[in-house]
Amino acid sequence: MKDITHVAVVGGGTMGNGIAHVFAQNGFSVHLAETSRELADKAVQTIDKNLSRMVAKEKITDDQKTGTLDRITTFTDLKAAVEEADLVIEAVPEIFELKKKIFQQIDEAAPDHTVLATNTSSISITRLAAVTKRPEKCIGMHFFNPVPVMKLVEVINGYETEEKITDKIVALADKLGKVAVPASDSPGFVSNRVLMPMINEAIFCVY
Ligand SMILES: NC(=O)c1ccc[n+]([C@@H]2O[C@H](COP(=O)([O-])OP(=O)(O)OC[C@H]3O[C@@H](n4cnc5c(N)ncnc54)[C@H](O)[C@@H]3O)[C@@H](O)[C@H]2O)c1
Repeated sequence: MKDITHVAVVGGGTMGNGIAHVFAQNGFSVHLAETSRELADKAVQTIDKNLSRMVAKEKITDDQKTGTLDRITTFTDLKAAVEEADLVIEAVPEIFELKKKIFQQIDEAAPDHTVLATNTSSISITRLAAVTKRPEKCIGMHFFNPVPVMKLVEVINGYETEEKITDKIVALADKLGKVAVPASDSPGFVSNRVLMPMINEAIFCVY
Protein backbone atom coordinates (compact mmCIF):
# COMPACT_ATOMS: atom_id res chain seq x y z
CA MET A 1 0.00 0.00 0.00
CA LYS A 2 1.40 3.38 -1.05
CA ASP A 3 2.71 5.68 1.71
CA ILE A 4 0.89 8.94 2.26
CA THR A 5 3.13 11.83 1.20
CA HIS A 6 0.74 14.05 -0.81
CA VAL A 7 -2.33 15.35 0.98
CA ALA A 8 -5.15 17.46 -0.43
CA VAL A 9 -7.41 19.45 1.89
CA VAL A 10 -10.75 20.61 0.49
CA GLY A 11 -11.99 23.76 2.22
CA GLY A 12 -9.62 26.28 3.79
CA GLY A 13 -11.89 27.63 6.55
CA THR A 14 -11.48 27.25 10.32
CA MET A 15 -10.65 23.54 10.17
CA GLY A 16 -9.20 23.21 6.65
CA ASN A 17 -6.46 25.80 7.09
CA GLY A 18 -5.51 24.22 10.42
CA ILE A 19 -5.37 20.74 8.87
CA ALA A 20 -3.26 22.03 5.94
CA HIS A 21 -0.96 23.80 8.44
CA VAL A 22 -0.37 20.67 10.53
CA PHE A 23 0.33 18.39 7.55
CA ALA A 24 2.70 20.88 5.93
CA GLN A 25 4.52 21.52 9.20
CA ASN A 26 5.13 17.77 9.46
CA GLY A 27 6.72 17.51 6.01
CA PHE A 28 3.75 16.55 3.81
CA SER A 29 3.14 18.18 0.45
CA VAL A 30 -0.27 19.86 0.74
CA HIS A 31 -2.74 20.97 -1.91
CA LEU A 32 -5.42 23.23 -0.44
CA ALA A 33 -8.62 23.71 -2.47
CA GLU A 34 -10.99 26.64 -2.00
CA THR A 35 -13.85 28.11 -4.00
CA SER A 36 -12.10 31.37 -4.94
CA ARG A 37 -8.61 32.83 -5.14
CA GLU A 38 -9.53 35.31 -2.36
CA LEU A 39 -10.54 32.52 0.05
CA ALA A 40 -7.47 30.45 -0.84
CA ASP A 41 -5.21 33.45 -0.15
CA LYS A 42 -7.07 34.17 3.08
CA ALA A 43 -6.47 30.57 4.24
CA VAL A 44 -2.72 30.91 3.59
CA GLN A 45 -2.65 34.28 5.38
CA THR A 46 -4.21 32.62 8.43
CA ILE A 47 -1.64 29.81 8.33
CA ASP A 48 1.15 32.41 7.96
CA LYS A 49 -0.17 34.34 10.98
CA ASN A 50 -0.48 31.19 13.11
CA LEU A 51 3.04 30.06 12.15
CA SER A 52 4.41 33.52 13.05
CA ARG A 53 2.84 33.17 16.48
CA MET A 54 4.62 29.81 16.87
CA VAL A 55 7.94 31.42 15.83
CA ALA A 56 7.39 34.23 18.38
CA LYS A 57 6.82 31.60 21.08
CA GLU A 58 9.99 29.78 19.90
CA LYS A 59 8.02 26.62 19.15
CA ILE A 60 9.36 26.56 15.58
CA THR A 61 12.16 28.41 13.75
CA ASP A 62 11.81 30.92 10.94
CA ASP A 63 13.17 28.28 8.52
CA GLN A 64 10.51 25.80 9.65
CA LYS A 65 7.85 28.43 9.04
CA THR A 66 9.18 29.08 5.52
CA GLY A 67 9.42 25.35 4.81
CA THR A 68 5.84 24.82 5.97
CA LEU A 69 4.47 27.57 3.73
CA ASP A 70 6.55 26.30 0.78
CA ARG A 71 4.88 22.90 1.04
CA ILE A 72 1.38 24.37 0.59
CA THR A 73 -0.04 25.02 -2.88
CA THR A 74 -3.53 26.46 -3.28
CA PHE A 75 -6.10 25.59 -5.95
CA THR A 76 -9.53 26.76 -7.00
CA ASP A 77 -9.92 23.71 -9.27
CA LEU A 78 -10.87 20.71 -7.12
CA LYS A 79 -9.86 18.16 -9.76
CA ALA A 80 -6.34 19.61 -10.10
CA ALA A 81 -6.00 19.76 -6.32
CA VAL A 82 -6.67 16.05 -5.74
CA GLU A 83 -5.24 14.32 -8.81
CA GLU A 84 -1.88 13.52 -7.16
CA ALA A 85 -3.16 13.04 -3.62
CA ASP A 86 -2.62 9.91 -1.52
CA LEU A 87 -5.13 11.25 0.99
CA VAL A 88 -7.88 13.85 0.58
CA ILE A 89 -9.44 15.42 3.66
CA GLU A 90 -12.74 17.18 3.08
CA ALA A 91 -13.42 20.14 5.44
CA VAL A 92 -16.32 22.00 3.81
CA PRO A 93 -19.42 23.16 5.73
CA GLU A 94 -21.55 20.58 7.54
CA ILE A 95 -24.17 20.15 4.78
CA PHE A 96 -24.74 16.60 3.56
CA GLU A 97 -25.66 17.55 -0.04
CA LEU A 98 -22.50 19.68 -0.36
CA LYS A 99 -20.25 16.97 1.08
CA LYS A 100 -21.95 14.38 -1.14
CA LYS A 101 -21.23 16.43 -4.28
CA ILE A 102 -17.62 17.01 -3.25
CA PHE A 103 -17.02 13.37 -2.31
CA GLN A 104 -18.31 12.32 -5.74
CA GLN A 105 -16.07 14.85 -7.50
CA ILE A 106 -13.04 13.75 -5.48
CA ASP A 107 -13.85 10.08 -6.17
CA GLU A 108 -13.88 10.81 -9.92
CA ALA A 109 -10.65 12.82 -9.94
CA ALA A 110 -8.38 11.16 -7.38
CA PRO A 111 -6.18 8.11 -8.14
CA ASP A 112 -7.56 4.68 -7.26
CA HIS A 113 -5.30 4.27 -4.21
CA THR A 114 -6.36 7.59 -2.63
CA VAL A 115 -7.99 7.52 0.79
CA LEU A 116 -10.99 9.85 1.15
CA ALA A 117 -11.38 11.31 4.63
CA THR A 118 -13.95 13.68 6.02
CA ASN A 119 -13.65 16.04 8.96
CA THR A 120 -17.40 15.94 9.53
CA SER A 121 -18.59 16.37 13.12
CA SER A 122 -21.91 14.60 12.77
CA ILE A 123 -22.62 13.15 9.33
CA SER A 124 -22.50 9.37 9.04
CA ILE A 125 -19.27 8.16 7.43
CA THR A 126 -21.14 5.14 6.02
CA ARG A 127 -23.69 7.43 4.33
CA LEU A 128 -20.99 9.63 2.83
CA ALA A 129 -18.81 6.68 1.77
CA ALA A 130 -21.83 5.16 -0.01
CA VAL A 131 -21.89 8.00 -2.57
CA THR A 132 -18.43 6.95 -3.81
CA LYS A 133 -17.15 3.93 -5.73
CA ARG A 134 -14.58 3.25 -2.97
CA PRO A 135 -16.44 3.04 0.36
CA GLU A 136 -13.68 0.73 1.64
CA LYS A 137 -11.21 3.64 1.35
CA CYS A 138 -13.43 6.24 3.07
CA ILE A 139 -12.96 7.21 6.70
CA GLY A 140 -13.65 9.93 9.24
CA MET A 141 -10.62 11.91 10.43
CA HIS A 142 -12.13 14.35 12.91
CA PHE A 143 -9.74 17.07 14.06
CA PHE A 144 -10.51 19.62 16.77
CA ASN A 145 -10.28 23.40 16.76
CA PRO A 146 -7.65 24.92 16.77
CA VAL A 147 -6.05 22.08 14.81
CA PRO A 148 -2.37 23.04 15.35
CA VAL A 149 -2.98 22.99 19.12
CA MET A 150 -5.54 20.25 19.81
CA LYS A 151 -4.07 16.75 20.08
CA LEU A 152 -7.23 14.68 19.63
CA VAL A 153 -8.22 13.14 16.30
CA GLU A 154 -11.24 10.84 16.24
CA VAL A 155 -10.88 8.12 13.61
CA ILE A 156 -14.24 6.80 12.44
CA ASN A 157 -14.78 3.76 10.25
CA GLY A 158 -17.66 3.53 7.87
CA TYR A 159 -19.42 0.17 7.46
CA GLU A 160 -17.05 -0.87 4.66
CA THR A 161 -13.80 0.83 5.73
CA GLU A 162 -10.90 -1.62 5.41
CA GLU A 163 -8.84 -2.33 8.52
CA LYS A 164 -5.61 -1.41 6.72
CA ILE A 165 -7.03 2.06 5.95
CA THR A 166 -7.91 2.61 9.62
CA ASP A 167 -4.41 1.47 10.66
CA LYS A 168 -2.89 3.85 8.13
CA ILE A 169 -4.89 6.84 9.37
CA VAL A 170 -4.14 6.05 13.04
CA ALA A 171 -0.40 5.83 12.20
CA LEU A 172 -0.68 9.07 10.24
CA ALA A 173 -2.26 10.91 13.20
CA ASP A 174 0.70 9.72 15.27
CA LYS A 175 3.14 11.16 12.68
CA LEU A 176 1.35 14.51 13.07
CA GLY A 177 1.92 14.39 16.85
CA LYS A 178 -1.80 13.78 17.45
CA VAL A 179 -3.59 11.19 19.55
CA ALA A 180 -5.98 9.05 17.51
CA VAL A 181 -9.08 7.74 19.24
CA PRO A 182 -11.18 5.19 17.35
CA ALA A 183 -14.87 6.08 17.43
CA SER A 184 -17.92 4.29 16.10
CA ASP A 185 -20.02 5.82 13.33
CA SER A 186 -22.82 7.06 15.58
CA PRO A 187 -24.15 10.64 15.96
CA GLY A 188 -21.54 12.95 17.54
CA PHE A 189 -18.89 10.18 17.55
CA VAL A 190 -17.33 10.44 21.08
CA SER A 191 -16.52 14.00 22.11
CA ASN A 192 -19.59 15.76 20.65
CA ARG A 193 -21.82 12.95 21.89
CA VAL A 194 -20.62 13.72 25.42
CA LEU A 195 -20.49 17.50 24.90
CA MET A 196 -24.02 18.01 23.51
CA PRO A 197 -25.95 16.63 26.52
CA MET A 198 -23.69 18.76 28.76
CA ILE A 199 -24.56 21.89 26.76
CA ASN A 200 -28.21 20.88 26.97
CA GLU A 201 -27.87 20.48 30.75
CA ALA A 202 -26.31 23.96 30.97
CA ILE A 203 -29.41 25.37 29.22
CA PHE A 204 -31.60 23.60 31.81
CA CYS A 205 -29.50 25.31 34.50
CA VAL A 206 -30.28 28.68 32.88
CA TYR A 207 -34.01 27.77 32.92
N1 LIG B 1 -15.23 24.63 13.46
C1 LIG B 1 -15.03 23.64 14.32
O1 LIG B 1 -14.77 23.86 15.52
C2 LIG B 1 -15.07 22.22 13.84
C3 LIG B 1 -14.49 21.22 14.63
C4 LIG B 1 -14.45 19.91 14.15
C5 LIG B 1 -15.03 19.59 12.94
N2 LIG B 1 -15.63 20.59 12.20
C6 LIG B 1 -16.19 20.20 10.88
O2 LIG B 1 -15.26 20.60 9.88
C7 LIG B 1 -15.96 20.93 8.68
C8 LIG B 1 -15.60 22.34 8.25
O3 LIG B 1 -15.96 23.23 9.29
P1 LIG B 1 -15.31 24.69 9.40
O4 LIG B 1 -15.67 25.18 10.77
O5 LIG B 1 -13.89 24.66 8.97
O6 LIG B 1 -16.17 25.48 8.30
P2 LIG B 1 -15.83 26.89 7.60
O7 LIG B 1 -17.12 27.43 7.14
O8 LIG B 1 -14.95 27.71 8.49
O9 LIG B 1 -14.94 26.47 6.34
C9 LIG B 1 -15.46 25.74 5.25
C10 LIG B 1 -14.73 26.20 4.01
O10 LIG B 1 -15.08 25.34 2.93
C11 LIG B 1 -15.06 26.12 1.77
N3 LIG B 1 -15.81 25.45 0.70
C12 LIG B 1 -17.16 25.38 0.52
N4 LIG B 1 -17.44 24.70 -0.62
C13 LIG B 1 -16.24 24.33 -1.14
C14 LIG B 1 -15.86 23.62 -2.33
N5 LIG B 1 -16.78 23.16 -3.18
N6 LIG B 1 -14.54 23.43 -2.58
C15 LIG B 1 -13.61 23.91 -1.71
N7 LIG B 1 -13.89 24.60 -0.59
C16 LIG B 1 -15.19 24.80 -0.30
C17 LIG B 1 -15.68 27.46 2.20
O11 LIG B 1 -15.34 28.49 1.29
C18 LIG B 1 -15.07 27.64 3.58
O12 LIG B 1 -13.87 28.42 3.57
C19 LIG B 1 -17.45 20.73 9.00
O13 LIG B 1 -17.82 19.44 8.59
C20 LIG B 1 -17.50 20.85 10.52
O14 LIG B 1 -18.60 20.14 11.08
C21 LIG B 1 -15.65 21.88 12.61
